[in-house]
Amino acid sequence: MARFIVSGGCPLHGSLRISGAKNAALPILAACLLSDAEIVLADCPDLKDVENMLSILSALGVTWRREGGLLRIDAAAADNFVMPHRISKELRSSIFTLGPLLGRFQKAVCTYPGGCEIGHRPIDLHLKGLSMLGVEITEEHGQIICDGRNMKGAEIHLDYPSVGATENIIMGAVRTQGETLIHNAAREPEIVDLQNFLCAMGFRVSGAGTSDVRIEGTQERAKNVEHTVIPDRIVAGTMLCAAAVSGGDLTLSNVKPEHMASIISKLREAGCMVLSGEHSVYLKAPERLNEIKIIETLPYPGFPTDMQAQFFALCTMAEGTSVVVENVFESRFKHAAELARMGAVFTQKDRTTIIRGVKRLTGTQVYARDLRGGAALTIAGLAALGETTVMNAELIDRGYERMERMLTSIGARIRREED
Ligand code: EPZ
Repeated sequence: MARFIVSGGCPLHGSLRISGAKNAALPILAACLLSDAEIVLADCPDLKDVENMLSILSALGVTWRREGGLLRIDAAAADNFVMPHRISKELRSSIFTLGPLLGRFQKAVCTYPGGCEIGHRPIDLHLKGLSMLGVEITEEHGQIICDGRNMKGAEIHLDYPSVGATENIIMGAVRTQGETLIHNAAREPEIVDLQNFLCAMGFRVSGAGTSDVRIEGTQERAKNVEHTVIPDRIVAGTMLCAAAVSGGDLTLSNVKPEHMASIISKLREAGCMVLSGEHSVYLKAPERLNEIKIIETLPYPGFPTDMQAQFFALCTMAEGTSVVVENVFESRFKHAAELARMGAVFTQKDRTTIIRGVKRLTGTQVYARDLRGGAALTIAGLAALGETTVMNAELIDRGYERMERMLTSIGARIRREED
């Protein structure tokens, strides 16, 4: 078990290079199963969730090695389409392998992924989309058995623009004979990155980033690929929030500001000065943060649910009253109770929280309940009076490459302790 000990009151100053995006790397790693050629990934972040996806690939016969900042992957020897029970039960991202396994073996077996701290996380849209591609799906004793021997292109309309379902269907369709159209597809930048990776392999995918994605199935052998994973807009946004609450200033490099428009807009509303370059963002925090009238999480390009907790923390110390509405996941406010223990003042009902900003929070021991909630508590500790201990900090490692080191490098007083 790990914990962060954060001393509040140190304005952050300096610059950070942002790593590749976790939520682009995970589907791209799964897509490697579609290829027997060599794949080289640059900027694949070194995170717990990525490590877990790599263990899934190893269990399926894929070999990989990290070499000088590059990740070399060889899926030629992949020979297993049955996801080990333990792995697929524990790791939600195992569901991303269904599509590519069907594309490669026309068969796939996995266990229902568990829910997680932020909600039930159903996979009905994944399964409905794959079955519309002709996959016969049976469920026995919690196992999902997929027979894809009669797959063919189809026109699919997603009831909800699910990121994972969009990605799974795309990967299931690239080797499926005929044309597949996905309507009401998710539009996240990570899906565009997956499309670019698949096209570099020689597959025919277009429209990612819009609500209508088109895939032309092909049986051609995949090409060797070298791909650089896009920057992580959520890590970038998290670091900007840290600088904003600390009263400091921060320059980020290796970012795509166009992927962060809603985040930057809300930081400006909170009183920060934010300047964007082509691949950089500079933020200067105000003396005191202003209220943010309303933050509503929505599918991209709306405000990202993965930034809700971090902005919640920021609003607890902003001047005035802010409203946060979580529309995407049904239980993504677990950080609220912990922030209340630091002195945050708010009223919560269902998916809406009305936050009345206080001048300063007070450090105490708090518990991270999920990845982004843990990041939010760490951010709160940077501005709180005294010392904040963030327990279960290993949850934060799932999505941030040693957050304590990133923050220390820009002036934070934070240390990590392990049991
Ligand atoms: C991806 O999760 C991200 N994870 C999440 O990031 C992110 O919060 C989410 O997209 C929304 O942007 C990865 O990319 C690995 P969804 P995903 O399918 O694909 C419901 C983080 O912190 N739904 O778009 O699971 C679902 O319950 C993580 O980095 C169904 O009902 O998200 C949720 O309410 C957290 N049926 C909503 O849709 C389905 O079959 C959005 O889920 C699938 C989803």
